[in-house]
This record gives sequence, structure tokens and C-alpha cells, in this order.
Amino acid sequence: MISEKIKNVLNEQINKEFYSAYLYLSMSAYFAQIGLYGFSEWAKIQSKEEIDHGMILFEYILNRNSQVHLVQLETPKFEMTNPISVFEQIYNHERSITSAIDSVANMSESDCDLATRNFIDWYLSEQIEEEAMVSRIISKLKAFGEEKSALYLIDRELGSREYERPEY
Ligand code: FEO
Repeated sequence: MISEKIKNVLNEQINKEFYSAYLYLSMSAYFAQIGLYGFSEWAKIQSKEEIDHGMILFEYILNRNSQVHLVQLETPKFEMTNPISVFEQIYNHERSITSAIDSVANMSESDCDLATRNFIDWYLSEQIEEEAMVSRIISKLKAFGEEKSALYLIDRELGSREYERPEY
């Protein structure tokens, strides 16, 4: 059984992951509306992965014989001005998720909950990958994104992404 404090922070993290799914889904709609279908597909796949992240937490809480509390999701907030700005906003969002995961790690350590501390390691690694992935897209957009033909190629590249259920 996990402590009340750990249960609450894990439930909050489920909400953050599902909110992330919502954010990427609204990004996907924005990109489809401006004709960047590869970007749209990429964001849709990321949205699915965020749901997986939430579900892994969901299963963990139940496996620890504790309670899942699902609460209302916020409306996704970001300004849809141009692709670079959207990716910069998503990068900042991912950094805030990293910091939330860091808090779960610190809290489980101070609570001597070694199982949760071990469980959350996967999320720490996942956040490194996600920040790097988004940061690389920003760098490409900054280097070539002004050129329509280059944007077309980046769109094709992002559109080739395939959904993979996270290995946990
Ligand atoms: Fe599940 Fe993008 O953090």
C-alpha cells in the first residue's frame, strides 16, 4: 500500500499525462488545419503515447492496492501561431512534466517508498527522450523551417513516425 501523499501525487500525474494527450491532440488538429499532415500525425501518435503514460500510472496505483481518482481535464492552452512557436510551447510543457516527475521521485525517496521510486525511473528516462525529441524538431525548424520545400520534407519525416506502445 502506498501512502496518501504518494497516492495523491501519482493521481495528479495521471491528470498531467492525460492533459498532455489533450495538448498534443489539439496540436494535431492545428497542424492538419494548416496542411502539415505529417506534423499532425506525429502529434496524434504522441497523444496516444501520453495516454499510455497515464495508463501505466493507473495500473500501478491499482497494483499497489490504492485508489485511482480521475478528475476534470483542463482545456489545452497554447497559442497556435506558427510551427516553431507551437513546438517551443510543447518543449516548455515537457520541461514542466519533467519537473513534476522529479518531484514524484524526490517524494517517494523521502517517504522511503522504494517501489514507487523504482517505478518512476522509467518516467525519468522517458522525459529525457521526449525533451530531446522535441528539441531536435525545434532545431530543424529554426535551421530550415523558413523554406517551404524544407518544411515539406520535415513534414514528410515527421509523418513517417509509427506508434509504439511504450515498453514498460
Ligand atoms: Fe508523458 Fe510527454 O510526458
